Amino acid sequence: MREKKISNKIFDPFENFRLITENSYIEARYNGPLYGVVDVAGAKNMVTKILIAALSGETGKVKIRNIPWIGEMDITLSLCKRLGVDFKINPDKTLELKIDGFKNPEVRFDSYLGNRVSLLFAGPVLYKLGKANISKPKGCEIGERKIDFHLAGFQAFGIKIKEYDDYLGLTLKHKEFKPATITLPFPSVGATENLLIIASMTKGVSVIKNAAIEPEILEMVKILQKSGVSIKIDANRNFIIKGGPHKIIDVIDIMPDRVEAFSWGIAALSTKGDIFVKYAQQDHLLTPLSVLLDMGAGIEIYPDGIRFFYKKNLKPIKVTTQTYPGFPTDFQQPLSILLSQCNGISQIHETIFENRFRYLERIKTIATSGRIEIMNTCPKNEPCRFYGYNYPHVAKINGPICLGKGDLQIDDLRAGFALLNAGILSEGIKIYGIKLLYRGYENIVEKMQSLGADVKLVI
Ligand code: EPU
Repeated sequence: MREKKISNKIFDPFENFRLITENSYIEARYNGPLYGVVDVAGAKNMVTKILIAALSGETGKVKIRNIPWIGEMDITLSLCKRLGVDFKINPDKTLELKIDGFKNPEVRFDSYLGNRVSLLFAGPVLYKLGKANISKPKGCEIGERKIDFHLAGFQAFGIKIKEYDDYLGLTLKHKEFKPATITLPFPSVGATENLLIIASMTKGVSVIKNAAIEPEILEMVKILQKSGVSIKIDANRNFIIKGGPHKIIDVIDIMPDRVEAFSWGIAALSTKGDIFVKYAQQDHLLTPLSVLLDMGAGIEIYPDGIRFFYKKNLKPIKVTTQTYPGFPTDFQQPLSILLSQCNGISQIHETIFENRFRYLERIKTIATSGRIEIMNTCPKNEPCRFYGYNYPHVAKINGPICLGKGDLQIDDLRAGFALLNAGILSEGIKIYGIKLLYRGYENIVEKMQSLGADVKLVI
């Protein structure tokens, strides 16, 4: 019997994202401390990948709950549409997916907009069609962001690669993936997820050595395990995966976005306010919370969220970004805004991406006191894979930094929140390039306004 199609065209939560152009901007200025309660949306860096992992399953239906209404979802769903995936988005933040074959092998962005996850479609599309044409990933420009680990993994699983200017032509050498053992030169989040998805469909035992273990990845592991895939993780972060055809569980819940949760904490502390961040989870924030405690922040942890509040002058600190469970690279951008308000010298050593401080150069242009310095030289006695390269990956922030007026451009998504937070501490700025911000943060202006911030979106 033919199943009824479930697509609809009525509800479109991404309309606002699409309306934002390069001329749109946000106006922000200081309006006192932020107070109140704010909800954290579903995690951007889980939802898009788990949606793709779900497509690797055998025929059936999957419901994904707690979908964030962000641009990243819009971009990912446009790839699904092109592949002929049947889905329905509902106002209650659920996504209903019909898991089936694909109508064609084209995983191609249909506009200038793109993201990192195109490459993760390789596994499901190859598994079901034997070939895939995949747009090269796009995304925030925070370093070179090579894809060599993904490609080496593809080859190990028996995938033939032809590289074109803007896409990859992939075919299976034999009829199916062959089990593989891959050692990642660095625990890459995207490569771990990509190869995990492929391994989950591959008959036999595959091993991913030196894998990343970010919470979003462990959520994927949990969902695949619930779907019958055997995945063991040893003490050295090696994943041992016994894959094969599997049917994905019926209902998937998206974890709260830990980057958003932390960012609201910073917004509270930097404005000397008090915010209860609903759904923030301590488990995902152990190291960052302790960094804030070391600075003297007020933090109370509850089962349904975390309260961040200002108690006393915060102390400057030194932080080095690392893979999980170290201090995450995505958190350094909001953190630096808090550091700009502390009295004294703080330091951030970025060791994941080689060029993630451009937003601080922007902030320098509106600073009327204090000093921000971006350096290429690693701090003494800190091992760093960027040692000896000329990368601007160390920031010294000598605060307090008063923020005046000006126009600022967002260079990458996380910088978007940082500039907005700078805006609500400033005499008045206009922030451009906000499409990037709306790719990752749901209702950001409305949420800020509900906490008392003076921010206005001009489309
Ligand atoms: N790398 C390579 N070769 C590869 C893959 C990675 O050299 O084939 C390098 C990268 O250049 C980088 C490092 O390995 O220096 C780590 O990159 P990773 O692959 O872990 O990053 P990603 O998967 O591209 C995800 C998040 C980022 C987050 C990083 C690190 C998504 C969509 N993106 O990127 O999030 O910063 O992991 O945790 O999950 C964001 O949300 O704004 C964002 C940038």
